[in-house]
Amino acid sequence: MAQTLPVAIQEKLARILALKAKRGGEFALPFDKDNFPLSVARQFPEYQKFALEIGCGWGEFTRASAAQNTDVMHLAVEKKLARVISSGRDQRREGLANIRYLILDVAWFFEGIFAEQQFNAITINFPDPWPKARHHKHRFISSEFVAELARLAAKDCLLTFATDNYAYAREAMQAFEATDAFKNMQGPFLASCEIEGRPRSFFETLHRNEGALIYFLRYLKA
Ligand SMILES: C[S@@+](CC[C@H](N)C(=O)[O-])C[C@H]1O[C@@H](n2cnc3c(N)ncnc32)[C@H](O)[C@@H]1O
Repeated sequence: MAQTLPVAIQEKLARILALKAKRGGEFALPFDKDNFPLSVARQFPEYQKFALEIGCGWGEFTRASAAQNTDVMHLAVEKKLARVISSGRDQRREGLANIRYLILDVAWFFEGIFAEQQFNAITINFPDPWPKARHHKHRFISSEFVAELARLAAKDCLLTFATDNYAYAREAMQAFEATDAFKNMQGPFLASCEIEGRPRSFFETLHRNEGALIYFLRYLKA
């Protein structure tokens, strides 16, 4: 966690993030060592609600959600700079004020980038499923990752995980339901295939067009 991270490492991480933010455009979140770990309430005092999205891709879902919920500041994490630049461009065209991007690898969560208990919604849409067994280690979901999400989530935070990969949906349920921190809103080990009114991400549209079933996992932070 950042509180215990050596200052030299914090400073190095903050420098890398600041550099990426500079290249990411006007909506990329600027970083300096003084806002480490990042407190969204301190950074955006004009907002009371905060949503975190992990792996936003080109930001179709992010921007639609931001347009639907203008009182919520959306923080979108994406490791690929080009995708952030592309979404930032569309965001400017659409006139949305309430999205900022963090160009970072999600593994950095474990370096304590964020202060605790600050997100009211956490969304993971179609993370790479890494279908081959020897690649499973690259999947986001693990018990450590779930513990970190629990640390970041505020009470009653709504966590949504979407995938078209049944095996990954099961694996994610096992990780979420092994802890008391998250309660499955749909009943133990249940997912739904549709959430009415929910904007579709690029990959959701792609998979639906191929006729795939979608699994939405929804949890409430205790
Ligand atoms: C399959 S795409 C889904 C994109 C988008 N959520 C959607 O549903 O259209 C997965 C996204 O997660 C990003 N990603 C994968 N691993 C990541 C990591 N370790 N840290 C941050 N982003 C990551 C990829 O760059 C990619 O944009």
